[in-house]
Amino acid sequence: MKKILITGCFGFIGSHWTSTLLKNKNYKITGIDIKDKPKNFVKNKNFTFKKISIFENKKLENLIKKNDFIFHFAAIPTPDTYINDPIKILDITAFQAVHIVKLCVKYNKIIYFTSTSEIYGKNPDVPYKENSSRVLGSTDIDRWCYSTSKALVEHYIKAYSKHNGLKYIIFRLFNIYGPNLNGRVLDKFIDKALSNKTLTINGKGTQTRCFLEVDDCMNAFYKIFSNKKLLNNTFNIGTNKQTTIINLAKKIIKLTNSKSKIKFKSYKKLSKLGYEDMFLRVPDPSYLISKTKWKPKVSLDDGLKRMILSIKDTNKK
Ligand SMILES: NC(=O)c1ccc[n+]([C@@H]2O[C@H](COP(=O)([O-])OP(=O)(O)OC[C@H]3O[C@@H](n4cnc5c(N)ncnc54)[C@H](O)[C@@H]3O)[C@@H](O)[C@H]2O)c1
Repeated sequence: MKKILITGCFGFIGSHWTSTLLKNKNYKITGIDIKDKPKNFVKNKNFTFKKISIFENKKLENLIKKNDFIFHFAAIPTPDTYINDPIKILDITAFQAVHIVKLCVKYNKIIYFTSTSEIYGKNPDVPYKENSSRVLGSTDIDRWCYSTSKALVEHYIKAYSKHNGLKYIIFRLFNIYGPNLNGRVLDKFIDKALSNKTLTINGKGTQTRCFLEVDDCMNAFYKIFSNKKLLNNTFNIGTNKQTTIINLAKKIIKLTNSKSKIKFKSYKKLSKLGYEDMFLRVPDPSYLISKTKWKPKVSLDDGLKRMILSIKDTNKK
């Protein structure tokens, strides 16, 4: 039996990954989170939940010692928090993650770390390859604290791998969406559309993002996880199909039969709040494709329909 620890197991990525792994009876999973939200897999005999914060160092160390693979997902990846509480972001995304990396080195465990497309900042030269440059704004702009935190952890992982033999995988995720997403543009738009409230767009909405459905992301994770030869690699996980934010808003309004209107928030106002937007963010997933033959299968329309149904279901409860 392979023993796996998942931090942030009740979050968006954590819950989908736990469900994916539990389909294979050879994995014994321990999940930790500060949330106490029951999910289907809680009753699975191969899953144990412990309500532990990653800041509880003793308990965390014990768990890392007992497991073989550490999937570190716990974070606060919501753009609103980058601006409203950057210290919280730095503490959890950078410093506690570095602590986890060091424990993996100490006990010789394999770490799987979720990094982000934000790593590339506002580099205009798209699509991004894994070795593309990072182009960031000033430290006066709080939003870069998340990108910088993830990059710091990546540096630690790569340095420990080079000098101490740490085994790792870094997933750089590009706008993953699906049921259970929380605090990002897609779930916010769907929530608003379902209650006929105004959807607010930053700038004119001509900025684009590449959205990848969570099942396609889990498929990429699984292909990477099941091939040990791929260890010590960084992978962009995303699709290069771009969607403008205005088109996304219109699509959601249409798919939900909503009467919502669209409002535009000026970038001038946003920059005073410590925000800076990227006009486009496009991954080059060719490395992942060449190594795993991965192919995304879910169209944005189908993915949105699934997500809308799931949010409607949750709202009924
Ligand atoms: N979803 C995406 O598109 C995306 C993109 C880039 C990177 N990521 C990364 O993927 C990971 C998972 O993101 P997500 O979208 O599932 O976010 P999420 O907010 O849905 O999940 C994070 C989970 O961590 C838990 N958590 C927070 N603080 C904790 C603590 N102190 N101790 C234990 N658990 C704690 C939360 O309760 C939550 O369940 C994060 O590291 C994030 O930076 C996600």
